[in-house]
Amino acid sequence: MNDTFLRVCRGEEVEYTPVWLMRQAGRYLPQYQAVRANVDFLTLCKTPKLAAEVTLQPVDILGVDAAILFSDILIPVEAMGLRLAFSEKQGPVISEPVRNRSAVDRLIIPDAEEDMPFVPETIRILRKELENKVPLIGFSGAPFTLATYVIEGGTSKNFLHTKKMMFQHTGVFSYLMEKLTVTVISYLSAQIKAGAQVIQLFDTWAGVLSPVEYKEFVLPYVKKAISELRKYGVPIIYFTNECAGILKEVRKSGADVIGFDWRIDISDAIKKVGKNVVVQGNLDPCELFLSKEKLEDRVKDILWKGESAKGHIFNLGHGVLPETPVESVMALVEAVHKYGKKE
Ligand code: CP3
Repeated sequence: MNDTFLRVCRGEEVEYTPVWLMRQAGRYLPQYQAVRANVDFLTLCKTPKLAAEVTLQPVDILGVDAAILFSDILIPVEAMGLRLAFSEKQGPVISEPVRNRSAVDRLIIPDAEEDMPFVPETIRILRKELENKVPLIGFSGAPFTLATYVIEGGTSKNFLHTKKMMFQHTGVFSYLMEKLTVTVISYLSAQIKAGAQVIQLFDTWAGVLSPVEYKEFVLPYVKKAISELRKYGVPIIYFTNECAGILKEVRKSGADVIGFDWRIDISDAIKKVGKNVVVQGNLDPCELFLSKEKLEDRVKDILWKGESAKGHIFNLGHGVLPETPVESVMALVEAVHKYGKKE
């Protein structure tokens, strides 16, 4: 197996900078669209054979150095008892958002093997399929990002319901965060037991908070999840979007690898997190619309700057956009492999 990615996660020396891409499986790939033409998104996530098939597509087509389980961060939220739907226009929709204590009371802590058996089953299929290929990343939404969906009922602009609960009903907010944290720990434990070799926590919305709010209302739960998952000895990646303002706090999370979005220069980000962590990132997904030459220049710049970290995994600063030309994504992976070789 190509274990370059695993070795970088552990802080070991490697021959080249490994690359994988958030949302590497998805609508920009015609092969994904072909599978999706016959099933809706949630059914795809819940059908292990199909979820495994689309997980493998970018590994075979792009030659990335890691596979990421095909699923969604909101799958465990549905298993907690909420009704979830994906609409073409609005993205995820939770029909009865959680806004008070009794709604939090009603949330159940799911058992992944019982309540989401398709997730460990997909992982078991994938580990067999990936045996001679690349490592498998499992993932979960981080507690705060899950809380925003649960409270807002979907994606939001100002996160007012979330912040109002945080400020005006702090006890209810903490109670919800605790339940989500226990869920995340048990969900990721099940993924690791099924065979996930690395795990990533996605904190897509952490950057909508001030550093002071992040430190008080988010960091303790992330730290708890990471410290509980430590015992498995599997590397833990923590990605926060719009991270620039909160990185000094994010570094205290205890993660092995910290992922950055593209809005910060990677050199500055590395200075902020220090020498004890491996970093991941951070090309702007829209830069995949640059000419091949300009894209290569951006790749070289990030690779060069990434050298100052303890270790560097190349990635985008957020997910691949559905409109992205496949050839650009292929050119990106090729460029990272070409220019990321160490002497
Ligand atoms: O990265 C991968 O290739 C693995 C699969 C993956 C998906 N979602 C598939 C998906 C992962 C890791 C996620 C995580 C996820 N889901 C996050 C965190 C990362 C991020 O993007 O910030 C969030 C916030 C979600 C919630 C979510 N799921 C939204 C907001 C949407 C709608 C927007 C969109 O792109 O359609 C989804 C749907 C979704 N998740 C799709 C895919 C491939 C598109 C569904 C389709 O095929 O129609």
